[in-house]
Formats: sequence, structure tokens, C-alpha cells
Amino acid sequence: MCGIVGYIGFRNASDFLLDGLHRLEYRGYDSAGIAVFHKGEVAVRKRAGRVCELDRLIETDGVEGTVGIGHTRWATHGETTDVNSHPHVGGNGEVVLVHNGVVENHNSLRTQLQTLGYVFRTTTDTEVIAHLIAHHLEKRIETDGEICTHEACVEVVETAMRKIEGTYGVAVLFRDCPDLIVAARAGSPLVVGIGRGEYFVASDAGPLVGYTEEVVYLADHEIVALTSESIDLLHRDAGKKSPSIQVLDQVAGDTSLGDFEHYMLKEIYEQPQSIENAMRGRFDESEATAMFGGLNLDPQQLRRVDRVVLTACGTSWHAGLVGEYLLEEFARLPTEVEYASELRYRNPPLTDNTMVFAITQSGETADTLAAMRECKRKGHPTLAICNVVGSSIAREADGGIYLHAGPEIGVASTKAFTSQVTVLTLLALYLGRMRHLSYPAGRRMIDQLREMPDKLRKALTCHDAVREVAAKYHGFNNFLYLGRLYNFPVALEGALKMKEISYIHAEGYPAAEMKHGPIALVEEKTPSIFVIPRGGIYPKVMSNLEEVRARCGPVIAIACEGDDTVADLADDVIFVPDVEEYLQPLVTSIPLQLLAYHVALLRDCNVDRPRNLAKSVTVE
Ligand code: G6P
Repeated sequence: MCGIVGYIGFRNASDFLLDGLHRLEYRGYDSAGIAVFHKGEVAVRKRAGRVCELDRLIETDGVEGTVGIGHTRWATHGETTDVNSHPHVGGNGEVVLVHNGVVENHNSLRTQLQTLGYVFRTTTDTEVIAHLIAHHLEKRIETDGEICTHEACVEVVETAMRKIEGTYGVAVLFRDCPDLIVAARAGSPLVVGIGRGEYFVASDAGPLVGYTEEVVYLADHEIVALTSESIDLLHRDAGKKSPSIQVLDQVAGDTSLGDFEHYMLKEIYEQPQSIENAMRGRFDESEATAMFGGLNLDPQQLRRVDRVVLTACGTSWHAGLVGEYLLEEFARLPTEVEYASELRYRNPPLTDNTMVFAITQSGETADTLAAMRECKRKGHPTLAICNVVGSSIAREADGGIYLHAGPEIGVASTKAFTSQVTVLTLLALYLGRMRHLSYPAGRRMIDQLREMPDKLRKALTCHDAVREVAAKYHGFNNFLYLGRLYNFPVALEGALKMKEISYIHAEGYPAAEMKHGPIALVEEKTPSIFVIPRGGIYPKVMSNLEEVRARCGPVIAIACEGDDTVADLADDVIFVPDVEEYLQPLVTSIPLQLLAYHVALLRDCNVDRPRNLAKSVTVE
């Protein structure tokens, strides 16, 4: 995973590098570091911990120079120590680099390099790349008797990277070429920002916003050589290319905390607005349907679709499950939801008219990107439901739908989930109206959807009740989350939120399926959270609730306002507004987000930056 940045030009490089690393911290926050050409040498400053730790180090031990690279880490190989932090040094300091990705053959390369006399100072896979480049540089200088030229540097990066199995985005400094950054990519995203007399490198466009509007997205196996005055691009196999310059259409979103203590809470409260943004301009009242600008498929192609595959990871996968129920109910389209990490290596039989949607907040999740590419390779129209404009998945998809949820910074996803569910509801309406859904049914859905921002506002008024429940249960170590139909994915998502930020073991299950195993966990110290709003299946879930009570398990119910029956049966109840069953996930997920938040606070956990996690998982 990890985020990388680079700068070459006239500014104080460390200012851009640190700013960029803060913007990339969602990709990992185990350690951070920079390397800058400073008084004729490459000065490295790095430290385990968040980027703010690096800020403090730079305040006391600054580096001045106009060329540098930086890194924020999510550890894959090697512990999170100062020494394992990037940048890493190759040879005797001739090469310094930062890397995002995984070197799968690092063991064999390490042995070979050790035999050649290279001394490893860290336990990372990345150090292998640094020594490998240094080794090829040394060889080339020996054979050709040349001094270190720009061409030589590019060539040795190319030669070394051919030996790497796995994924990488790298930015490399050469001690003897102070006006040069070489960057290369295979599998991990890299974007170059073009300024006047300056160039920028970053893992995504976020760090470039406000610095430049012209960018070049590197493709796999491309290598770029940057000086303050020039950009040279070459493809490993195709040779020299002219860079395709694009205009950055990303605007800096609101990333301030405002009056909130944490991003997660802020984002929970933004949901009435973010789902409204997801719907804005997407209703076609006269046709009683939804409309999308970017699907890039004509109505005939869309009508021929006979199957939908939704692929995603984490919370986005849970939104996909809600989508499956919606698309099957309203569009009558057989739908499957696949973990992207599985789909990328499976070979499920897909019909010619299968349409694939990758669902992703960040647009950078490595498995989702790989699954999408695999489906594209097989010729399926592959679309994205994505939040981050210009992200890798948004760019590579054949078309798609943006969430317009604004930046989501808390690592535990909240507003992206409800926005994804909203977009999937619009999609079900749209594809439904092309098939069996009647005009009046379409009108009804539009009217009901329009009411949802207010319903979410109302759902948020459960906050005090949730706080009390959290105070009562935060000391428990196991939770069950149970729901059926549309509320089964909500149960999964509620359990995931609890695990992610409070480190409590929580399992989500279909309420009836609980009898086939998890019921063995029920006892006085295992609370069950029942998502049990009114609806067709309500009496059935009620029976499941009774089964838990009969075994002395504490019950917390998420129920519809005014449901006294549930209130009497449950130990604690949190009310949400009554909405149509297919819209229930939008309101029932809110108390579960708040519950995870308050339990985590009471357990003294870092709500926005939970341990071991990252906002965007860019390794497989
Ligand atoms: C990480 C995040 C989750 C997110 C998942 C998928 O695990 O911590 O919050 O749901 O990645 O991310 P995506 O950006 O593809 O939705």
C-alpha cells in the first residue's frame, strides 16, 4: 500500500512533500519519511508513526533543497520501525527510493544481492529494489567507464524493474544526478504533475490539487525521467513515448473537521447531504426513472444486459449486497456480488451480456482494480460506482457513476456506504424501468427517494440513545449483529464497523441462519444487535429475537419509531424512522455507525486511524 510523492523544481521540496504525505495518509500511516538533496547530498529523514511525527522531526532537523521524494507507509514486509521506514538507500548511498507495492520475489533477490556483497539494513522488501538499482548502476559504470548520466539512471531503473515480480510505484533519486527523479510503475498508481519549471509525482492526484492542473497518469511499465525543465517518458517494451497530458478535474474537497471531534462523526452527520448529492440531477420525472451521464452504454446495450456482477471489497462489498437485492427486486436482473480479491483469480462463467460494476469509494483498491481489469479483458462492459474523481478505477472503467460524497477521510467508511446504496437504488430504478417496472412504481420510488435526506436527518436524532447503549455495553468483547433481507448486509456492515474501530469481535449474520452455529455464542456476555424495522419479514425476525432472549442473551434492537412490542422485548432499543423496506439500509446503518464510534471512544481507540488498517488498500 503506501503513498509516495516527489518534487523537482524551485520550491522548498520538503513543504510539498509533507503536504502531499498528509493528503496521502489515507493509504497508510505506519511511518513516514522524505529524502531531499541538501547541501550536495541526499538527506533522509524518516520516522515510525504518523506524518505529524515526521513534521515534528523536520521542525527540529529540517532539510532544504528543491528536489526530493517522500513516503507514507502501510507495512507489508518488516515491522513498523524507524529503520524500516522509507526512503531506502541502495548500495553505498548512490540510490535512494520510495516504493508502493510488494516485491514478491524479494527473498531470492535478497540472497543474490547478499552474495554480491550488498548489506541489508532493513527487513523490508523495498530495500531489494534499492540495492538492485545500485548494483546495475555500478555494473554499467564499470563496463562503460561512464559517469552517472541521466540516460544511465533511467536504463538501470528499467533493467532492475524487469527483475521485480509483484507490484510497484517507485520514485528514485541518484546521489550523483542531483537534477533528476526517475519514477516507474507496474500495478501501483503514479501520476506526474506538470508545472512551469517544476514537476511533481504522487500516488494519486490528491497531492497535486492546488499545485498544478496538468497531469500525466503513468501506465504500467512506464518510466519517467523528470528534471526541473523536462519530462521524458518511455515504455519498458515500446520505448520512448510522448506523454499524454490531461487536465486535472479534481477540486480540493472540504477536508476540515469543522465543529466535529473526529472525521468519522463528521462524515456520519454529512449523510443527509451526501445522499442528496448522489441523487442530484439524476431523476427523470417525466419518464419516472433515473438518469446517468457517464454509463457510456446506449439503451439497446443496456436492455440486452441479462446479468449483473457487482465486485468490491470491505464496506463497498456490503453496499453491493444491498445492490443485489435491489437489482433483483426492481430490475429482475440476476445479480451476483463477488469479493474482488476472489473474482480476480476465479473464472466464473459470465454470459456475453453480463455487465460488471466495480464499487469503490477510493477507486484505488488493488483487488477491485484487478478484478475489473480481468472482466474487461474478457470483453464485458465494466463500469464503476466510485467516489474519487480521476482515481485509477474511475479512469480505467468503461463508464460509471460518481457518488459525489466529497472526501471521506475517516478510515471506517460511513457516508460512502449510504451513497453507494443510494446510487444502486437509482440504478435498480433505471434498469427496472427499461424492463418490468411500471410508470407508477417508478414515480413512487422517486418520491420515496426524495424523502430520504430528511429521514436520515431524523435517524441521526437517535444519537443520545446510542450514546447510552454504548456506555452500557462498551466493556463487552463479543457482539452478534443480526438482520434479514435488506438488513442482512446492514448487520454485516454494523459488525465490520465495530471490529474496525473498537477491536471488538463482532459477527454479522442473517438472523435466521444464526441457529446454525452462532447461537452457540449467545450468553449473558454476548449482546445481539437485532436490526428489526417493520416489514414483511418482521414476525420472523421477532421469532429469532425470542430465541436469543430464551438463552439469556442481551438484545439491542434497531427498530421503527413507536414499535412498543420490540421495545418491551429488547433490553435496549434505538429507534429509526419508518421507511419502505428497500430503503431501510439507509436509516438502519446510522445507529450502527454511531454505536461503533461511541464504543471505540469509550475504549480509547483511535477512531479515525484504527490500528493496522488503511483507507485505501493498494496491495492485494
Ligand atoms: C479498506 C477500507 C474500507 C473500505 C475498503 C474498500 O479496507 O478500510 O473502509 O471499505 O478498503 O475500499 P474502496 O475504496 O474500494 O471502497
